[in-house]
Parts: sequence; C-alpha cells; structure tokens
Amino acid sequence: MRNAQAQNAEARNTEARITVNGDETPIAPAAPHTTVLDFLRERGLTGTKEGCAEGECGACSVLVARPGLDKPTDWVAVNACLLPVAALDGQEVVTAEGLATPGEAGTPPALHPVQEEMAVRGGSQCGYCTPGFVCSMAAEYYRPDRCAHADPDGGTDPEHGPNGFDLHALSGNLCRCTGYRPIRDAAFAVGTPAADDPLARRREQAPPRPVATAYTRGDSAFLRKNTLDETLRLLRERPDAVVVAGSTDWGVEVNIRSRRAGCVVAVDRLPELRELRIEADHVEIGAALTLTEIERRLDGGVPLLADLFPQFASRLIRNGATLGGNLGTGSPIGDSPPALLALDASVVLADADGEREVPLAEYFTGYRQSVRRPGELIRAVRVPLPLSPVTAFHKIAKRRFDDISSVAVAFALDIEGGTGTGIGNGVVRKARIGLGGVAATPIRALATEAALEGRPWSAETAEAAARVLRGEGTPMDDHRASALYRSAMLGQSLLKLYAQTTEAVSS
Ligand SMILES: Cc1cc2nc3c(=O)[nH]c(=O)nc-3n(C[C@H](O)[C@H](O)[C@H](O)COP(=O)(O)OP(=O)(O)OC[C@H]3O[C@@H](n4cnc5c(N)ncnc54)[C@H](O)[C@@H]3O)c2cc1C
Ligand code: FES
Ligand code: FES
Repeated sequence: MRNAQAQNAEARNTEARITVNGDETPIAPAAPHTTVLDFLRERGLTGTKEGCAEGECGACSVLVARPGLDKPTDWVAVNACLLPVAALDGQEVVTAEGLATPGEAGTPPALHPVQEEMAVRGGSQCGYCTPGFVCSMAAEYYRPDRCAHADPDGGTDPEHGPNGFDLHALSGNLCRCTGYRPIRDAAFAVGTPAADDPLARRREQAPPRPVATAYTRGDSAFLRKNTLDETLRLLRERPDAVVVAGSTDWGVEVNIRSRRAGCVVAVDRLPELRELRIEADHVEIGAALTLTEIERRLDGGVPLLADLFPQFASRLIRNGATLGGNLGTGSPIGDSPPALLALDASVVLADADGEREVPLAEYFTGYRQSVRRPGELIRAVRVPLPLSPVTAFHKIAKRRFDDISSVAVAFALDIEGGTGTGIGNGVVRKARIGLGGVAATPIRALATEAALEGRPWSAETAEAAARVLRGEGTPMDDHRASALYRSAMLGQSLLKLYAQTTEAVSS
C-alpha cells in the first residue's frame, strides 16, 4: 500500500514542470519549499543572484508570463527568492540568460536591447545587481501601454522617461556601486520592441494556464486546485495547511525564519479570487489579484487606493503581493487595512459551507488575529460606493519607497458646501480615518472622526481634530519609531490633509 502511494506521488511529481528560457524542465527533485532562485541556480542559471533573500534588493528578479491587461500575456518581473518553484508548475520563466539571443557557433550571443543599453551607458560595475535590473527593465520594456505614454520631448516628469519608461519599475532593485544615474539613462534610452522580438511576440499568445499541482517530496507537499470549491474542501481536510498567494510574506518566513510547512496550498490563480467587478453600490476586488493588477485595472477609479499603491513596497513586490495576503497576515503595519478601513470596506470570507461578509472594522480581533476561522479564505474585498470625495493616504516610513510603515493614516471625508467652488469652510458630513502602526491591530480613529463630523472644514477644526488624533491608539516605541514620534505624525497627517485640500482650492 505504501509503495502504491509512493508511486502515485512520484508519478504526479514528474508531471510538475516549468519552462525556463524556452526549455521545459521537471521541478523534481526540488523540495516543495525550494525557491525559484535556488532552483534556477542549481541548474546553472547563476545570473539570478541572491542579495538578501527577503525581497529587498531585486538581485533575484526574473520574468514570468502572466495574464495580461492589454495583451493576452504580460511579462511580469518578480522576486525569485520569495516564490516557491512549485508555484510555477506549468508556467514560463525567463532569466537574464534567456533575454540575449544565442549566437551562431563560435559567435557571442546578441545582447537584448535593455542589456545593450546597460552596457553602453555604464549601468554595470561589479555586475551583481545587473541581471536583476535587466529583468525588471525588460518587464517595463515590454509593458504594452508604456509607449502610449512616451513623450519624446522629455516632458517634466522625472519619474518617466521620454520613452514612457516608469522608473517605479526599478524601485525594488538596489545597486551598491554603479550609482543610479547611468541605470536611469539606460532605462530612458530603450526603444520599442521589434516586430520579430520573440518575447514581444509571446505576449500575443494566451498565457500558460494555471495547472492543478500535487507536488510532494517526503512528508511535505505543495498543492494547487483548479477551483475554489476544491480548495475549500482541501482546506477542511487539511486544517494544518498554510495558504499562499504571492508568497511575498510567506517567502520571508521560509528564508529568514526557516519556517517549513507540511502542506502549502496555493490560491493565487483561483479564478473566483481574481475577479474585479464594479457594481452599482460597490467595487469587489478579488483577494488574489496582485496589487499591480488592481492598480492597473482600477486605473485611478478608487483614488485612495491609487494613492496607496505607489507607496506599497516596490513594483517587484506589488507584482506578487495580494490584498488577501496583506489582510491574511493580520499585521498591524500592513498598508492596505488603514485605506480599506477609511473606505468602509468589508471582507468576503468563504469556507466549504458558504460565504459571509464581515466589515473590516470588525475583522481584526487582536495582534495578528482576526475573525477568520480555520479553513476560511478571504475571497474578496468590497468597497462601498459612492466614494467619499476627499481622500489621502499618508505613509510615514524611514525610506520613501520600499519600506514598511512606522505609521500609516488614510482619510476619506465627505465635505459639503464650502466657499466658492472649493471645500474650505464646507461642513464635514462624514469622516472615516484608518490608522496603522499605532495599536495591536489596524484601527479606525473614532474619536477624531467624531471631532470632525458636523464641523466646518476650517483651520480651527483641523487643529482641534489633530490634537484628538495624536491621542488615538496605543503607539509603542520600537526600532522603527518612538511612541512620541508616531503620535506626533498622526496629528501632522491631519494638518497636512487640511493644507493639501485648501491649497488645491486656492491654486
Ligand atoms: C521587501 C518587502 C516589502 C514589503 N513592503 C510592504 C509594504 O510596504 N506594505 C505592506 O503592507 N506590506 C509590505 N510587505 C508585506 C507583503 O508584501 C504584503 O503583506 C502582501 O500583501 C502579502 O501578500 P501575498 O499575496 O504575497 O501573501 P502571502 O505571502 O502569500 O501570504 C501571507 C499570509 O496571508 C495568508 N493569505 C494569503 N492569501 C489569503 C487569502 N486569500 N485568504 C486567507 N489568507 C490568505 C497566508 O496564509 C499567509 O499567512 C512587504 C514585503 C516584502 C518582502
Ligand atoms: S535576493 Fe534580494 S530581493 Fe531576492
Ligand atoms: S553594479 Fe555593483 S551592485 Fe550594482
């Protein structure tokens, strides 16, 4: 009996395959927790580097073929150090080695246009970071709507090149010796993919389908089902399973804290978790859509989220990270909960018995704890419509990009009337304020909301409410910030919002 089971497992394992630079290769004998980075390097593709193993440096960046927005397939750059290779069963990956075109016998390969620009503009010195930069740059090179935003005269936007290149594409890549100017020059010099460019042509074909995976080695398994129902039944059978979506949190646990799971269940490609629907009275956002997908699909339609996304980690992380994962960690310093609290959002939870909707304000119950039961998945997040017109997301962190919040404050205000066409001295009809980093859970600033509602939106109201806001939560001293600083930043945040809204009126 044991032999038959082992043979079955073996048969399934040999079916788990990944296509790397055009060559299909079995995932076995890698352990289920093996990262894409280690898998590639063990097969000799050592261009993909390990710098930090926690998603901070981008030296491990590779391209994966994903469902596209404007084309059937997009080339998306991700951190290979965080993603288990078993999560890419049936998928296609391109590494820095696969970007160049192999030369005829005895001749060197022809560099890819982004490699060529990095070489001729001095974008590489020691070269350790270069393969990662080149992959992130290639993903942006192939972004279908990049050229639509090209401004050959140069424009005045320092974050976009005349070729439409968005520098945020490189926000997850660090270089310690070249300096960023030559790298930016290379990015801003790349042209448009040629008609016969193989990766540009690949975008016109359907992306690889997600495949059901049952990859087991010894007593650990990586499992993926095709449907939500099958997944929920599996979670009922395996209450010990660890659910993963983009693995940007779980990957850090595996690499840095050496956590291992007997059973990992992937939910990132479940169609039921990947819908984005705009209904008459709410927007429903699938829990397994990546933040990049949400950002591009909403296209500014929820301004508070549009404000949040560029401040959340880096493009590399946002290409994998999901809202389900951000809420699933239950972290008090996650960035989406303050914004979703200010938006009065609710969470749709699903298990094998059905669904229930829980207001986010009632979701968190304690430090990294929530009302979510074992076997329950976050299926979607619902944001009610209409949206409050005055919104802002203020993230206070040590670095402007790619850093965890010390404090995060999200505002959503309805301000009625006001002087002239503006909102100054209008009356605050509704105030929703979400806070992160000042308590064991993300919280609403209820006392401050009460101090604003029914009052004129004036400097006096803002100053009085800022004093109340400084006293919200129970901020702590830690390595990121002192309690005093956190509290001061809360107050400043409201004064900043007031200045932003009234400056907009006078300009
Ligand atoms: C370098 C770096 C920078 C980061 N910067 C930020 C930042 O600026 N702001 C921020 O908020 N976070 C940040 N993070 C944390 C992380 O990227 C986010 O929490 C992300 O949203 C997690 O999503 P994921 O899909 O990758 O989750 P995963 O790692 O796949 O899962 C995380 C947890 O959520 C659970 N989970 C996942 N999906 C579901 C679901 N549908 N239902 C129930 N449970 C689920 C998993 O079981 C797991 O416990 C950063 C991480 C890294 C490595
Ligand atoms: S090795 Fe640093 S981000 Fe992956
Ligand atoms: S070239 Fe040395 S770290 Fe970037």
